[in-house]
Amino acid sequence: MRKIIIAGNWKLNKTSQEAIELVNSLNRELVDVTSVDIIVCPPFTALTEVSDVLTDSNIDLGAQNLYWEDSGAFTGEVSAPMLKAVGVRYVIVGHSERRQFFGETNVTVNKRLKSALRHKLIPIVCVGENLQEREANKTFDVIRDHVEGSLAGLSAEEVKGLVIAYEPVWAIGTGKTATSAQAQEVHKFIRGLLARMFSEDVAQAVRIQYGGSVKPENTAELLGQEDIDGALVGGASLKADSFSAIVKNSVSVTTK
Ligand code: PGA
Repeated sequence: MRKIIIAGNWKLNKTSQEAIELVNSLNRELVDVTSVDIIVCPPFTALTEVSDVLTDSNIDLGAQNLYWEDSGAFTGEVSAPMLKAVGVRYVIVGHSERRQFFGETNVTVNKRLKSALRHKLIPIVCVGENLQEREANKTFDVIRDHVEGSLAGLSAEEVKGLVIAYEPVWAIGTGKTATSAQAQEVHKFIRGLLARMFSEDVAQAVRIQYGGSVKPENTAELLGQEDIDGALVGGASLKADSFSAIVKNSVSVTTK
């Protein structure tokens, strides 16, 4: 059984004060929702304040990145123990914006992933092709490369607990959503890969989110697909009404 999981990736948005206002509204709007896992991922600077507001809430806290060493001379970085200490439970790893603008590779994604797992954080590992790659019919090659490279050396038990987000780069922040059929095709491919790399049992346990211009209007259609177990939401997670509507529209989808 896979429980639906909806996560908001706030990216480089929201001061602490703005973050507090947003989670206060989400707490009010979503207090009754228990059938869906709900996560917000504010910037590092707002984690402590948001964590306080989420005490006793059904909404969980996530971070947007982490460094793989626990401590040391790594100016500007933040580690898993630091995130744990402020109440973080989930962490996004390998988002395409990190791959695109900050030199992230499968090798560094893999190191971050191992550190997150060592410290019992739940990683949300992002994979996805860009437009050029899709148009050159390389989507499945890129996804295989991202999945195999990112998960290299992990045990079946470790992989079972993590979340994968399929985010076609051409659909992120563009308003251009993959069709539910396009998304389902890749999700199914990822699940097949996991079965071959680990086992059928692992493949059936891993939750695979779709990300890329998810909005209240397309949530139910996307989540209605057999292998789509949730959403990683960027732009529409910055407003309480649209993020709450996405969560509420996913409630009608039965657990997979
Ligand atoms: P978007 O971003 O919903 O704004 O397209 C999704 C993401 O990058 O996680």
